[in-house]
Amino acid sequence: MNCFQIIKSVLDEAYNQIPGDDSEKDGVIIEALNYLSEGYIQLLGKSQSIDYKDTITRFAYIYKYVSSHANLVCGIITQSNDLAKVFDAQQKINIACIGGGPGSDFLGILKYLMSKGKTPSVKFQLCDKEKNWAESWSDVDDKVDPKFRISTSYLPLDVTKPDEWKPHTKYFTSDIFTMIYFMSEIFTLRDSADEYFTNLFSQAKPGALFLFVDNNHTSFYGWFDELAKAHNIKIKDSNQYTMFLPSDEDKSDLGIYFQKFQSYSYPKIKANIAYRVGQKQQ
Ligand SMILES: C[S@@+](CC[C@H](N)C(=O)[O-])C[C@H]1O[C@@H](n2cnc3c(N)ncnc32)[C@H](O)[C@@H]1O
Repeated sequence: MNCFQIIKSVLDEAYNQIPGDDSEKDGVIIEALNYLSEGYIQLLGKSQSIDYKDTITRFAYIYKYVSSHANLVCGIITQSNDLAKVFDAQQKINIACIGGGPGSDFLGILKYLMSKGKTPSVKFQLCDKEKNWAESWSDVDDKVDPKFRISTSYLPLDVTKPDEWKPHTKYFTSDIFTMIYFMSEIFTLRDSADEYFTNLFSQAKPGALFLFVDNNHTSFYGWFDELAKAHNIKIKDSNQYTMFLPSDEDKSDLGIYFQKFQSYSYPKIKANIAYRVGQKQQ
């Protein structure tokens, strides 16, 4: 399967798990799409976190956001010599996706590997407070052509709770850390999350790359830039722009779900982003 066939199969599984007949399922999914859109409008003002525990909310997130975010990740790697080089130079790569539960980060990298025919062995660790995301992605390795040697594992941790994140240190040796639409999600909890990021940025090994992509707002990229400066992470590449996703790609990939939900909520096809590629120095 290609990345977007994988997304469709994960949506099929989630849809089957939602109780009720199709019209009941569609009704609650539309409510969840609204819940997410309203939550993302208030990222700078709201202190209550978006809750992804429910299969319905996770279905809605995957339908609307995952292929868009995966495309962003794939596009940035394609443009970034530093990131692309890792996939040429190393046969074994470890990647930690911080707030990567919904799968967009690793699917974006998988799309890049597939599009370039690159086959290093890549271990993804999805670090996220919502353990139910594992339900969507735990068997994804089985859906991918085995010539792409990828594996995924879940590390459930809440970055605002030191008791949860402090015991986990092995992933600090990762070659790449992704933070895709993560810092904005926890921006209002910055005071509680800063210790986590300080620890992560200081413990990352020299040469490790950080890929940050988020809403184009100075509060979000400013936070990343401050951490990078304080922890000897050199910004190798950065940009801010509005990116459009080819909508045809979504239409065919999301199949029946696109037909059901497009008039209520179109999959995200436009993103005003800021991104950074940073590298930890000696
Ligand atoms: C907007 S989603 C972004 C996900 C993915 N990187 C993407 O681009 O589609 C934010 C993710 O952060 C996770 N999250 C929210 N608060 C968190 C926290 N305090 N600690 C760890 N993960 C958290 C959520 O469960 C969710 O999966």
